[in-house]
Amino acid sequence: MQVNRMNALGAMVCAATLTLACAAQDTASVPHLRKQGTATQLIVDGKPYLAMGGELSNNAATSLENMDTIWPKLVAANLNTALIGVSWAQFEPEEGKYNFVQVDGVIAKARENNMHVVLIWFASWKNGTSSFAPYWVKKDYQRFPRIQINDGKTVSLSGPVELLSTLGTATRDADAKAFGALMKHVGEVDGMRHTVLMVQVENEVGVLRDTRDRSPAANKAFAGPVPAELMQYLEAHKDALVPEFREVWAANGFKKSGTWEEVFGPGKPANVEIPIQTTSPPMSALEHQNSWQQLHWASDEIFMAWNYARYVEKVVEAGKAAYNIPMFVNGWLQQPNHAWPGTYPSGGPLPQVHDVWRAGAPSVDILAPDLYLEYFDDVCERFTRNGNPLFIPETSTNPANAVVAVGKYNTIGFSPFGIDGNRPIGADLAATYSLLEQLSPMILARQGTDAVTAVRLEPGDAPKNVKLGNYTLTLTYTGRTMRLPPQARGQVAGSPPPPGTQANANEAPPEAAAVLISTGPDEYYFGGAGGAMRIDFTANLPGPGNVGLGDVQEGKFVDGKWVVTRQIAGDDDAQGEILVLRPGTIVRVTLYRYP
Ligand code: DGJ
Repeated sequence: MQVNRMNALGAMVCAATLTLACAAQDTASVPHLRKQGTATQLIVDGKPYLAMGGELSNNAATSLENMDTIWPKLVAANLNTALIGVSWAQFEPEEGKYNFVQVDGVIAKARENNMHVVLIWFASWKNGTSSFAPYWVKKDYQRFPRIQINDGKTVSLSGPVELLSTLGTATRDADAKAFGALMKHVGEVDGMRHTVLMVQVENEVGVLRDTRDRSPAANKAFAGPVPAELMQYLEAHKDALVPEFREVWAANGFKKSGTWEEVFGPGKPANVEIPIQTTSPPMSALEHQNSWQQLHWASDEIFMAWNYARYVEKVVEAGKAAYNIPMFVNGWLQQPNHAWPGTYPSGGPLPQVHDVWRAGAPSVDILAPDLYLEYFDDVCERFTRNGNPLFIPETSTNPANAVVAVGKYNTIGFSPFGIDGNRPIGADLAATYSLLEQLSPMILARQGTDAVTAVRLEPGDAPKNVKLGNYTLTLTYTGRTMRLPPQARGQVAGSPPPPGTQANANEAPPEAAAVLISTGPDEYYFGGAGGAMRIDFTANLPGPGNVGLGDVQEGKFVDGKWVVTRQIAGDDDAQGEILVLRPGTIVRVTLYRYP
């Protein structure tokens, strides 16, 4: 992980002569990553930044006119960050001739709209394939070789493949050169303003329709020894490797050298078909949960992970040499029903091969999940092992997931895909982004410590206990309305919930999530999303046994100051006995103890 440091003289000279010719970069404050406790934060202009984002559909920014219709939607939905693609084909339509129109237009309009941008370099690979490569690359098979797979007999995996090979050094160098030119330009136009925060390099790399490249060059490399750099990395990190990867190496005797299959076990024979599912249907719940967390034909996936990582490393190095901001890669995840490499891109930055990516691409700052899988929390766990920072560049619009990712897994950002059309941001997520934005100074100040966490409750879940600060919180799901439960003492039966909180009888009850922040010995702030939950308190320290609700306030932060919108007592907290956190609200509560 790289942290940028100032060349003081250079920064002063640039500040004094802020012209384009200066290639202005304030190297002290360009966006960078910094550790805080167990978290890694994105630092922008000296402060931690939480990206409440959304990724645009792939070609949205290939037309700036089209973008003009999109910016207002992003602002209305309370986004502060847009993930926007740059097409290699459009950027370098002729070899060596670069087109900066789109990237300049995006940066200018982002500034007008008070937004930040994460660029996506759609280059050699996008969803495994190579559709964003320029025409001059596509049509030159000799100079820019493709992968080869087996004979196409495999299930739904038949048909030609059109994927650039990781072993094409001319392709790698052309991609790296173009990316270097892009980043040099971004550094020149944005090195002092920091509208562009990070860059995703390539998109969901990996081999589809087979477990590995079977071109003659790839077969030769696969039959040869595992590179010494990889073996040395594994030796040095032997005790900290991710368990499922370590098991594969252990099963083959922790060999220190050998061919890929000698060190990591057998790959798939070329003529064996890839099953779509791990088992015959119906898949049991346990199989469903476990099938996407294992290596199958491990040496093929490991071999591809190494080769993608080495290629991407060169591209990232070229970009960082020109302008050093955080860069990440994203992974199309293994799925319960697509658990075998080749049914998902084999060799992408998936958790089971994170160690290989770390060894092969040390300049990559973040290995990121495209997180559409229902096992949201498990994926966050698996992507934060060994200190990997979490950033979620693609996901669905579930507001509870945003809260959990921020509060529990310290994500740098959350970004539903296709927000300009395919997956429009609904009111719930917009409200949650507003809530997170207000709470973000408090959350970011405590990320990586045990003063902040988040909890998710699904309908039917048993209450959950969370130890936070001086109290243990018991969180109970209450659903969409904020109605107090019937056992609440003194509740007036039939009293209506406040407007806008009544559940629609036809709607499925939503899951609920809350970010929980301990701000003092007896003080908390909570933010809720999805459904409502009840929060009870038990003291952790010796003293009087009962815990009372002191001040209960709903409110908002205006220019960083807490403004109370509703002071709560009486019927709304069951005469001081029950605290309910409603979705879309922020609550501040102080507590006291009595015998
Ligand atoms: C994942 C890809 O990374 C995106 O570019 C897009 O193709 C989405 N899938 C579509 O759902």
